Amino acid sequence: MANMTHDWNPSQYMKFAGHRLRPALDLLARIDADKPAIVYDLGCGPGNVTGLLADRWPDAAVTGIDASADMLAKAKAEHPDITWIEADLGHWSPEVPGDVIYSNAALHWLSDHRAVFPGLMEHLSPGGVLAVQMPHNHAEPSHTAIREAAGPVLGKLEPVMRETPVAAPEVYYDILEPVTGELDIWETVYTQVLEGDNAVAEWTKGSVLKPLLDVLDEDERGAFFDTYSGLMQKAYPVRADGKTLFPFRRLFIVARP
Ligand SMILES: C[S@@+](CC[C@H](N)C(=O)[O-])C[C@H]1O[C@@H](n2cnc3c(N)ncnc32)[C@H](O)[C@@H]1O
Repeated sequence: MANMTHDWNPSQYMKFAGHRLRPALDLLARIDADKPAIVYDLGCGPGNVTGLLADRWPDAAVTGIDASADMLAKAKAEHPDITWIEADLGHWSPEVPGDVIYSNAALHWLSDHRAVFPGLMEHLSPGGVLAVQMPHNHAEPSHTAIREAAGPVLGKLEPVMRETPVAAPEVYYDILEPVTGELDIWETVYTQVLEGDNAVAEWTKGSVLKPLLDVLDEDERGAFFDTYSGLMQKAYPVRADGKTLFPFRRLFIVARP
């Protein structure tokens, strides 16, 4: 369950906060929990979504957990009232079971989902709920072009490339069905309308490209990003109105013991 990077860049990630927020809200809307006492946000990042959890359940003890000190510094500055814990989710175990364990766009950074998901179910209180959203766009050009753009740096990138971190919905059904009483799994493809130049590459720079760019030196990084950007501009052309459409598939899971 190795985590590839704890050195996230909050400002690059937050450039597309609106688009990234929508699935977080869609997931939150599917949680049927009136008065949870203990709420965990796994991979809370800059804490904006954790803040929404605290707004929805003002009486709950809300804790955001993330491995990135930079992300947590931003989270703490914006929401000093929430508890923030720096920890690797691969080894996280709560002292008190959660009534809600929520995770938006983070668990795809963990390997071995066959162990991770049943493990999270064990951290729920008897009436608790696990709610997870993960990007499932890894078969699309935004992700497959990474290998194509790598050229001479492929050898450097391969150890940190994670080409299929999220499995098909039926795989999660098989993993969770034996340990759940209620299980809801669905996918949504968001037709994201992006603005600005080189919009798709700018988006992925704050997510899937981040650990890859980190292992390259400056010249390699520039060459790789330029080649990748060219592939993105071809795969996702700018439209007549100057906008770029970036379809993005996401997988949702809501499970109860
Ligand atoms: C794409 S961001 C999502 C942030 C937030 N949940 C949101 O919806 O805006 C992914 C977050 O997962 C965190 N992360 C990745 N692997 C992790 C791990 N093994 N343990 C803890 N946090 C991890 C990163 O530091 C990053 O803040």
